[in-house]
Amino acid sequence: MSVILGIDIGGSGIKGAPVDTLSGKLVAERHRIPTPEGAQPDAVKDVVVELVQHFGHAGPVGITFPGIVQHGHTLSAANVDKDWIGLDADALFTEATGRDVTVINDADAAGLAEAKFGAGAGVSGEVLLLTFGTGIGSALIYNGVLVPNTEFGHLWLKGDKHAETWASDRAREHDDLNWKQWAKRASTYLQYLEGLFSPDLFIIGGGISKKADKWQPHIQTTRTKLVPATLQNEAGIVGAAMMADQRAQGQGS
Ligand code: BGC
Repeated sequence: MSVILGIDIGGSGIKGAPVDTLSGKLVAERHRIPTPEGAQPDAVKDVVVELVQHFGHAGPVGITFPGIVQHGHTLSAANVDKDWIGLDADALFTEATGRDVTVINDADAAGLAEAKFGAGAGVSGEVLLLTFGTGIGSALIYNGVLVPNTEFGHLWLKGDKHAETWASDRAREHDDLNWKQWAKRASTYLQYLEGLFSPDLFIIGGGISKKADKWQPHIQTTRTKLVPATLQNEAGIVGAAMMADQRAQGQGS
């Protein structure tokens, strides 16, 4: 059994738990600390250190980030402090925790976890996970292998708008849409993605995955099967741990 600490940095909470990466199960109860106001790098780093200490964890640590993460550097910050842009987040967390840290995009982590242990388990071919929350995150997985940083939430949709500005859960709240109205927007977006990528399966994650009975009946895709995510708020933690495990075994970047 390989146990790795997974930490999920979200807009309202930073959550962690040790994960058995063979089964995808948490081996201790999840611990959540509210995200510091503004989510500045130094303040987030302090919370990460607190979580590592909370679990008394000695091995590698996987951490999600809600933006592009390339070779340990955070390169975008649509919904967090702009000081993250260009930062060597891997070095920041590694130095602060004294652990071997791997940083991964939040949707990529959720996608890895759902494809292996959740709604996509056993599905071969192309799985496209989308998380609908403050933004829209995306993860493209082909036969279990992740293509990182797809950022499909930033595809242009509806003139001058990014998809996430128009079809995220925040847009639903902001524009005061009922579920049917929101599902119409989400369907337009999903059909666009179908035309571009022809996935074998869509997995819909983020906070809305818990309310699938409200929106799923109204979603229309052209030909792709669609299922809600099943790991819900554990997906990021589990996927971060999986990625750290892959790297520890020399398979990740
Ligand atoms: C970011 C993505 C992230 C998504 C969900 C988007 O605004 O660009 O990197 O995965 O939000 O947090």
